[in-house]
Amino acid sequence: MPEVLVPAPMIDVPVMAKLRKIRTLTAREKLFDVELSGGLALNHKPGQFVIVSVFGSGEAPISVSSPPNPGSPSFQLCVRDAGSLTHHLHTLSEGSPIGIRGPFGNGFPVEDLEGNDILFIAGGLGLAPLRSLIRHALERRSRFGEITILFGARNPAERLFREELEEYAKDKTIRFLETVDVGDDAWTGRIGVITTLLKGLEVRPRNTVAAVCGPPVMYKFVVLELLSRGFLEGRIYMSLERRMCCGMGKCGQCQINGVYVCKNGPVFRYLDAKRLPEAL
Ligand SMILES: Cc1cc2nc3c(=O)[nH]c(=O)nc-3n(C[C@H](O)[C@H](O)[C@H](O)COP(=O)(O)OP(=O)(O)OC[C@H]3O[C@@H](n4cnc5c(N)ncnc54)[C@H](O)[C@@H]3O)c2cc1C
Ligand code: FES
Repeated sequence: MPEVLVPAPMIDVPVMAKLRKIRTLTAREKLFDVELSGGLALNHKPGQFVIVSVFGSGEAPISVSSPPNPGSPSFQLCVRDAGSLTHHLHTLSEGSPIGIRGPFGNGFPVEDLEGNDILFIAGGLGLAPLRSLIRHALERRSRFGEITILFGARNPAERLFREELEEYAKDKTIRFLETVDVGDDAWTGRIGVITTLLKGLEVRPRNTVAAVCGPPVMYKFVVLELLSRGFLEGRIYMSLERRMCCGMGKCGQCQINGVYVCKNGPVFRYLDAKRLPEAL
C-alpha cells in the first residue's frame, strides 16, 4: 500500500467532521457518511472504531463500517438508536457537524488473513464492523481463498445493508447464506438462528479463518459449533464490546485483567478472548 501522507485525526481531541449523507437502513439503524474537515484522512483498518462526539450529548465508540480508503476524509458509520447519544445522532440532518477521535483499536490482521479461506459470521448489528473487512476482502478477491458470508437477523425488517445482501447472493465468486430468527408473510428465505447456517456447511477448517461479530450470546454458540467443526481457537477472530471512555488505554474503563479492550482489541482471537472473564 502506498505511503499515506495525509495526517489522521487526533486521538485525544475531537476533530470536526460533517454528516455528508444519512440513509435509513432499518427502523433502528442509520448509515452516516462522514467527512473529516481540515484535510484529514481517517486511514483506518477493518475492525477499528472511532469515538464520535455529538455536541451536547457526549461521546460514543462506533465501528467504521466502510472499507479502508487511504488518504480519504470520508468513511461510514452504521449506528443503532440505542440510547441518549445515538438517538441525538439519529435526529441530526445532512450537513450537521460532529466530532471524531481515532481511529482506535487493533482491527483485523488483514495481511495475515490473505491466502486463507474466510468465513464471515455476522449477527444483527455485527454486520456493521464486519462489513469493513468484507468489502475490503471483496475488493481484493484474488488474494483470498473461498469467501463465505453468513448473516443472521432477528426478523426480515432488521436486515441491514439489504442491497448489498442481494449483491452477495448473486455473486458467484462467494458463498452467501442468511437466515432470520422469525419470518414474516413476505419472507421466503431460511428461518432459524445463525448456527443453523453452519450445520452442513462445507468448510476446510485448517485453511479457514473465521471472523465473527454479533451479540454476546451469539459468540458462545457460534464458537462451540466452529470448534466442533475442527476450527483452531487461534483462527477464530471476534470483535468485543465494552463500555469505553478514552479509547486509548488510559482511563481503564474497558480493562479486563490488565487487557484494554479499546487498545489490545476490540478484535481478539478466541484463544485470547476466552481468558478474559465476562468478555464473552
Ligand atoms: C468498540 C465498539 C464499537 C461499537 N460499534 C458500534 C457500531 O458500529 N454501531 C452502533 O450502533 N453501536 C456501536 N457500539 C455501541 C455504542 O457505542 C453504544 O450503543 C453507544 O455508546 C450507546 O450510547 P447511548 O448514549 O446512545 O446509549 P446509553 O443511553 O448510554 O445506553 C443505551 C443502552 O445501550 C447500552 N450500551 C451503552 N454502551 C454500550 C456498549 N459499549 N456496548 C453495549 N451496550 C452498550 C446501555 O447499557 C443501555 O442499555 C460500539 C461499542 C464499542 C465498544
Ligand atoms: S476506554 Fe479508556 S482504557 Fe479503554
